[in-house]
Amino acid sequence: MLGQNRPISRVIEARRPHRRIVKALALDAKFQDEARFLKSWFDKPLMTGAVYPSGKALARMMARYVDPSVPGPVVELGPGTGPVTEALIARGIAEERLVLIEFNPDFCKLLKKRFPKARVIEGDAYGIGATLHDLKEPACAVVSSLPLFTRPEQQRLRLLREAFALSCENAPFIQFTYATVSPMPLKTHDFSADKSPRVWLNLPPARVWVYRDRAVSYAQAAE
Ligand SMILES: C[S@@+](CC[C@H](N)C(=O)[O-])C[C@H]1O[C@@H](n2cnc3c(N)ncnc32)[C@H](O)[C@@H]1O
Repeated sequence: MLGQNRPISRVIEARRPHRRIVKALALDAKFQDEARFLKSWFDKPLMTGAVYPSGKALARMMARYVDPSVPGPVVELGPGTGPVTEALIARGIAEERLVLIEFNPDFCKLLKKRFPKARVIEGDAYGIGATLHDLKEPACAVVSSLPLFTRPEQQRLRLLREAFALSCENAPFIQFTYATVSPMPLKTHDFSADKSPRVWLNLPPARVWVYRDRAVSYAQAAE
C-alpha cells in the first residue's frame, strides 16, 4: 500500500533505489572530473586553460557544428576529460570516427577508458600535420578546446592551416573561447569566421567560433 502521508514522488523514489545510486554515481563522476581538472590547472595553468571542464550546453554547442552525415574522422584537440567528446557521440558521430589529441597523460588514460573505440593520441596538437600524416581519409571536422590565446598568432594560424590541409572541403574548425574576440586573428581573409550566441549556462560563459577554409573556393572560382 502507498504511504498515506508521503507524496507519491517520494514513494516512487523509495521504490527505485537504483535511480538514486545512478544519480549519485553520475554526480561523483562529475566531481571527480572537476577535481582532475583543478589539479591539472594547478600543475599547468596555461596548458589546461580552464578551471572546470566545459558544461553540457557548451559541449552541445560545439557538437552542433559537426554534420554527422559527412563521412570521415572527427579530430578533437584538447579533449580533457571528454565532455565535448560525449556531445559529439550524442550528436551521432560513431566513437570509431573520433581522433583525440591530448597533451595531459592522465587525461589520455581516462579518455582511453571512457572511449575505448576512439583513437587517443598523447601529444601536442600544434603538431597536428605531422601527427596525423597517416590519416586514411580527410577529416570532416576539427573540434578544438585548446587555450589558443597562450600561443602567438602565427602559431595559431599555422594550426588552422594544418587542420584545413587534413580536412575535406568546407570542413569546420570549431573552437570555443571565453574571450569576447575571435581566438584566430581575423586580419587575414583566407578563411571565413562565424560565431555562435554566447553560452550563458557555461561557467564562465563562452562562445563557439567556426572557421572554414576559403582558399578552396577561391581556387575553384579562378578555374
Ligand atoms: C580548456 S581545456 C578543455 C578540455 C575539454 N575539451 C573541455 O571542454 O572541458 C584544454 C585542454 O587542452 C589540452 N591541451 C592544451 N594544450 C594542448 C596541446 N598543445 N596539445 C594537446 N592538448 C592540449 C589540455 O590538457 C586540456 O585538456
